[in-house]
Amino acid sequence: MNESKSTNITWHEGQVSRTDREKMLAQRGCTIWLTGLSGSGKSTIAVAAEKVLNEMGRLTYILDGDNIRHGLNSNLGFSPDDRTENIRRIGEVSKLFTDAGLIVFSSFISPYRADRDAVREIMGEGDFVEAWVQATVETCEGRDVKGLYKKARAGEIPEFTGISAPYEEPNKAELLLDTNTQTVDESVAQIVEYLKTNGYLG
Ligand code: ADX
Repeated sequence: MNESKSTNITWHEGQVSRTDREKMLAQRGCTIWLTGLSGSGKSTIAVAAEKVLNEMGRLTYILDGDNIRHGLNSNLGFSPDDRTENIRRIGEVSKLFTDAGLIVFSSFISPYRADRDAVREIMGEGDFVEAWVQATVETCEGRDVKGLYKKARAGEIPEFTGISAPYEEPNKAELLLDTNTQTVDESVAQIVEYLKTNGYLG
C-alpha cells in the first residue's frame, strides 16, 4: 500500500532548521511510541505524562489511535493491511512533529513488530523511543474500560487484538512500562527520567 506513486517531486529545504526550533524550545524533539494491548494504559500514560511535561514547560503532542481513526485514518479498519497503513501514516506524522521539535506521544496498539520497526527506520537515531506498555490480556480484560473485550469474547468484534488477532511483543523497546504492577505515576516518572537522562530536556 505504501509504494510511491509520486513522480517529478522535489524536496525543498526551509531556512529554519530543526536545530533552530529545538533551540527555541530548549528541548530535543522525539516520539515516545507507546505500544501495547487495548486497555494496557497507553492513552492514560500519554495524557498523564503530557501533563507533567507541560507543567515543566515542555511542548508535547499526543497522537492516539482512537482519535486518529476519527479523522486522518477513518478509512482504515483492523485487517493486518489496514493496521500496517495506520501505523505507516502515523509514523510519518510522528516524524514531522518530531522534526518540528515536539515531544510526541504516539499511542497505538501497533501489534506488528515489522510496522513498528519500519517507523523506527524512517526516523533519525534517538528520535524513536519505543515504550512497551505491558499488561497481560487478563489484566486488560479485567479492566475492560470500553467493554470491547466482552464484545470480542462474544464474537461481536472480529480480529480483536489479544483475543482473535495477534500482538507481537517488542524485543528492543527502550522503555518497559509494566502496568500490571505499577501505577500511572510510576510509568510517567520512568518516561520523564528517560527523557532527562538521555538529554531530551536540554
Ligand atoms: S492498531 O492496531 O492499528 O494500532 P489503533 O491503536 O489504531 O490500532 O486502534 C485501537 C483502538 O481501536 C482500540 O483501543 C479500540 O478502542 C478500537 N478497536 C476497534 N476494533 C478493534 C480491533 N479489532 N482490535 C483492536 N482494537 C480495536
